[in-house]
Amino acid sequence: MEKFVTEKSKALFEEGKKYLVDGVSSSFHVAPCEEYPIAMIRGKGARMYDIDGNEYIDYIAGFGPTILGYAPDALNEAVADQLTRGVQFSTPTEALYKLAKKLTEIIPCAEMVSFQSSGTEANMHAWRVARAATGKMKIVKFEGQYHGWADEQKITIGADNTEQLGARTNITRIMTTAGQRKSTTDDIILAPWNDIDTLTKIVEENADEIAAVLMEPYMCDEGPILGKEGYLEAVRELCTKNNVLLIFDEVITGFRMSLGGAQEYFGVTPDIGIFGKAIAGGISLSMIAGKKEHMELCHPSGTFNATPVAVAASLATIAELEKPGTYERMDALGAQLCDAFIRLGKENGIKTYANHHNGISQFQFGIDRAPEDWRDVLDNVDSDMYDKFYNLCRDYGVRLTSMRGREYLSAAHTQEDIDRTIAVFEHVFPMLKEA
Ligand SMILES: Cc1ncc(COP(=O)(O)O)c(C=O)c1O
Repeated sequence: MEKFVTEKSKALFEEGKKYLVDGVSSSFHVAPCEEYPIAMIRGKGARMYDIDGNEYIDYIAGFGPTILGYAPDALNEAVADQLTRGVQFSTPTEALYKLAKKLTEIIPCAEMVSFQSSGTEANMHAWRVARAATGKMKIVKFEGQYHGWADEQKITIGADNTEQLGARTNITRIMTTAGQRKSTTDDIILAPWNDIDTLTKIVEENADEIAAVLMEPYMCDEGPILGKEGYLEAVRELCTKNNVLLIFDEVITGFRMSLGGAQEYFGVTPDIGIFGKAIAGGISLSMIAGKKEHMELCHPSGTFNATPVAVAASLATIAELEKPGTYERMDALGAQLCDAFIRLGKENGIKTYANHHNGISQFQFGIDRAPEDWRDVLDNVDSDMYDKFYNLCRDYGVRLTSMRGREYLSAAHTQEDIDRTIAVFEHVFPMLKEA
């Protein structure tokens, strides 16, 4: 197997860095463990092609959105058709209402929806709705869970070790970026994920101030970490009992774990759901869904909310995802990758853990069981080994997500893609133990 030559990507990055902050348009577009990012020219299906002429099998999926793969015909046709009729009207359209109605039919918590453009904005709006609905201001947020880049949201994510987090009952407020106003996080209460006893104490002691408990129902962003058996159900009950809303941030899990999101997959319905990324197959669109009585309290604003192009893309994406067998096929392909990852770990004397849930698969080194919480990930998951794996896979034509071991399958991945990926895994695993 030949190592890819990516000199043009390297040179392009060196030049681009002079004019663009960090040389990329979002933090993880260059992985912390890579010297330079690969610059792409085009993608089709699960394949991407870089400026040096290399072909990759992709599991990054534009960080989640491209659930139909790259340049899918159905989405391209819908978008192209809309382009000929105008990209932005700032008026309702028939398609807008069709999409809103469709979303209320497929998402369990959705009596009504409202649209935004990004996951960050959808979170901002959802938190506002929860505060308006309860008349209370505090939001319980879990350590390590990312909900967007606004001042109030970007707190206690991305730690290097558990010491930085402090005690589970008194978690350190870690600010992420220069210029971030700490005062905006005064209404955030931090809690450890997957620890129902600590959460119960927090909620019961502060119930008259807490508007909502906010969580990724499958902690993906800094994980991935599944909720323990019965955890989501217990949090649901705790919230109901204490007049606190439960918000699921499904920006990653939405449309990926199933058409109705993680709430459908796990059978636990939150009061508010937040969706983005895969909702429109790669065109920016986000949305919150919830009860009519709550949703009608706040009026969404945003010039680019649900543009006709985004609406057309979303309708086309949902129609494709609804086709029978789509999720089962992604899951079966993910299962093959996970089996190979675990087998190769054993064959090479490396501890590995893998798991698959339809459009999301998870690969971790250093453990051979599901991680329990973020502290467990920081203490026990071997992120240096993952970084090495990431770079080696990249060198031989498989694009994984950087750092966290969360990989995205798309409806376009084929058996051939999986076979080739496994061949690359087989080639690089023995190199993981080399210095
Ligand atoms: C769980 C979660 N919520 C919110 C966001 C923010 O979404 P966006 O990047 O579209 O603003 C992200 C982004 O990765 C996310 O993973």
